Amino acid sequence: MRTETFALLVKDHKVVEGIIDELLETRASDKKRRQDLLNTLKKELQLHEGIEESIVYPPLEAKKSTHDLTLEAYQEHHVVDVLLEELDALDFKDEDWKAKLTVLQENLEHHVKEEEDGLFPQAEKVLSSEQLKHIEQRIAEAKSS
Ligand SMILES: [Fe+2]
Repeated sequence: MRTETFALLVKDHKVVEGIIDELLETRASDKKRRQDLLNTLKKELQLHEGIEESIVYPPLEAKKSTHDLTLEAYQEHHVVDVLLEELDALDFKDEDWKAKLTVLQENLEHHVKEEEDGLFPQAEKVLSSEQLKHIEQRIAEAKSS
C-alpha cells in the first residue's frame, strides 16, 4: 500500500487507541485524569472524523467499488459518536462506564481495521495519483489549522 496519502490518519488511529488504553487504566476516583483524557479523546475523534468525512469519504463514496464500504464507514463513525456521547453522560462511578468504553474500543478497532486494510488500500487503487496527492495535501492542511 502506498501509505503516504493516509499516513497522518493512520497516526491519528494510534493516538486515539492509545488514549482509550490509558482511559481503561484509570480509576473512577481519579476524576480529573479521566475527564482530561475523555476530553482529549472527544477532541481527537471529532477532528479525525471531520477530516475523513469532508476530505476522504466523498471521492470514495462516488466510486462504485468503494461506495458501500464508505457508507459503512460513515455508519461506524456514527456508532462511535453515539457511544462517546453516552459515555460522556454517564457518571464515572457507574458500573457500566468501563463496559461502554470497552465496547467503544471494540467498535473503533473494527472501524480502523476496515479503513487500514480495506478502504485506504482500495482508495490507492481507484483514485488517480492527482486525487491522492490532493487528498494528502488537504489532510495535512486540516491537521495543521
Ligand atoms: Fe474513520
